[in-house]
Amino acid sequence: MEVKGIFVILCLCVVLDCTFAKKGRAKSQNIEDTYGALVDDDVQNDEYGDYEDSEDGQGPPDETNDTLRPVEEETVEFLTQAQVVIAKIGDVVRLPCDVSNPDVVIVWQKDGSLIFQGHIAVSRSTNLMEFPNNTLEVNVTSSNDFGNYACILITSNEDDKRPQLLHKIVPLTPPQIMAIIPSNNRTEYQLGETLNLTCKATGYPKPDISWHLGNERLDIHGETLTIPDLKVENGGIYRCLADNKVTKPSHHHIEIHVEHAPIVKTEKYIVTSDKGEEAELTCTVDAYPAAHIVWKRNGENLVTNSQYAVKLVRRELLHESILTIRNLNDDSFGTYTCLAKNSKGKQEKKVSLVRTPAVREFVKPERDNKDVVLTWRVESKTPISMHEIQYRKKGEAKWSTAKPEVSNHVNNIYLVTYTLKDLEAGNYETRMRSKNNHGWSEFSDIMPFEGVLAKHGSSHKPHHKKHHKEKEQKEKHLASTPEAIPAQHQEIKHNEAPVGASQHGGCGSTTSSATVSCIALLFLFFIRQ
Ligand SMILES: *[C@@H]1O[C@H](CO)[C@@H](O)[C@H](O)[C@H]1NC(C)=O
Ligand SMILES: *[C@@H]1O[C@H](CO)[C@@H](O)[C@H](O)[C@H]1NC(C)=O
Ligand SMILES: *[C@@H]1O[C@H](CO)[C@@H](O)[C@H](O)[C@H]1NC(C)=O
Ligand SMILES: *[C@@H]1O[C@H](CO)[C@@H](O)[C@H](O)[C@H]1NC(C)=O
Ligand SMILES: *[C@@H]1O[C@H](CO)[C@@H](O)[C@H](O)[C@H]1NC(C)=O
Repeated sequence: MEVKGIFVILCLCVVLDCTFAKKGRAKSQNIEDTYGALVDDDVQNDEYGDYEDSEDGQGPPDETNDTLRPVEEETVEFLTQAQVVIAKIGDVVRLPCDVSNPDVVIVWQKDGSLIFQGHIAVSRSTNLMEFPNNTLEVNVTSSNDFGNYACILITSNEDDKRPQLLHKIVPLTPPQIMAIIPSNNRTEYQLGETLNLTCKATGYPKPDISWHLGNERLDIHGETLTIPDLKVENGGIYRCLADNKVTKPSHHHIEIHVEHAPIVKTEKYIVTSDKGEEAELTCTVDAYPAAHIVWKRNGENLVTNSQYAVKLVRRELLHESILTIRNLNDDSFGTYTCLAKNSKGKQEKKVSLVRTPAVREFVKPERDNKDVVLTWRVESKTPISMHEIQYRKKGEAKWSTAKPEVSNHVNNIYLVTYTLKDLEAGNYETRMRSKNNHGWSEFSDIMPFEGVLAKHGSSHKPHHKKHHKEKEQKEKHLASTPEAIPAQHQEIKHNEAPVGASQHGGCGSTTSSATVSCIALLFLFFIRQ
């Protein structure tokens, strides 16, 4: 029954849609027909058709015929607006020149030279034609045909004071960005200053200018971009894009630096290895001017020698410092510090080198009906003997503990999964640790996750409103949760979520929630029936 109903609705929608679309088409067709008919009428009712016959070549208008005499200026005006017509070679352009008094004589000039006088062709051009209603037709056959076309009224005024209507035929030209110019010629700024960039572009039609910072599209249109009160995150590569739909958009970029003290991040603040092995510690530094980066152990700077290798890698606008420690011995385990310093200040981050396991990441939970599958990745050089996953409803004090089975590892990475059965909806959190022959790891950071998303149409849900709210929250959460979250470093996790990414996620979830709401409404509708 319900399925049938949906089909009926869908069909109705399709039919309605088609009807509207058809109506739209039919309407525009009619307009064309009407327009065509009007044009034909004009031609048929043409009362000036034999001007050319009555004229004697290039001479001045016949003095005996009143209609060809100069008219007083006050009695006549243009009914047509000046136009800029964008054309390419091969186009045929019509330049109208309607005047309030059809008896007035007009001449057409191209860039100052006479081409038509009182409907008589003066130039030899075969690609120009004038209609009895004064409209000039230009068959654009070469670049010589671009330019200014003036329709001039022959009034009793002095020659140079005669009213004229100036049309332009301009070539379609692809957009081209000449430069991005900072208002004060600087690419280096202090925090709190104002950034002012102008993107100079040519092209016809005038290109539309949009801006990007890195890969993120900015909500700014027009040739000037102004950002007051500069923050660290306003530094980067600004791209301006000029598009006039003629060819591919043109783009240009400029790198803008905002001076700031170093911001140091570590993706792994616990690194696990074992005696005799090697370990790699990494920190990423965002700084301008470029920071001096050192690794320290017990207050001493580490330099490249038989035991250590320090390497600096540039990653786009960031610098990554990699400390490799070879042939680990008992003394090698402990805390290392990555310190970055520039003229604006300094910052450091600590990294622990351990032999116990290191929890690497929490994978986005999977949902299967009312079950939620939690998945973690754990690294250990020596075999893991036990995992422990803890979880609780948000706000509760007591953890529930599970001991998932230890499965095989690939390249020292263990995949740990645990299925929570019949979990009711709500906000939960989880953490985990693992044990190898050197002991238990630290607990991971606490990661949030959501209870079960009720299936559509499960009719035993008593509170539709509440249910809907939960669903919305869930979608928000899903949209902003990356596939896998580093389980070690809350700080990184928050700082590194790019603003742009979360905005995009938000948009997506709005659309999908609208769709879901529609489907849900349909269901409610049919359940009630
Ligand atoms: C002036 O020209 C118009 C249009 O050709 C014509 O209808 C009219 O008879 C002419 N008048 C005179 C006085 O020749
Ligand atoms: C002028 O006449 C031409 C040819 O009859 C017609 O196509 C055009 O639409 C007319 N233009 C105006 C502005 O009346
Ligand atoms: C325009 O000029 C070209 C070249 O002379 C010719 O082939 C074409 O037929 C013309 N088109 C019109 C609409 O007059
Ligand atoms: C901006 O920089 C350009 C190129 O370095 C230079 O030619 C121009 O004079 C500078 N303008 C100002 C206002 O400093
Ligand atoms: C930024 O540029 C605009 C347009 O060029 C200008 O009006 C404005 O004064 C500039 N602002 C600053 C702070 O330079």
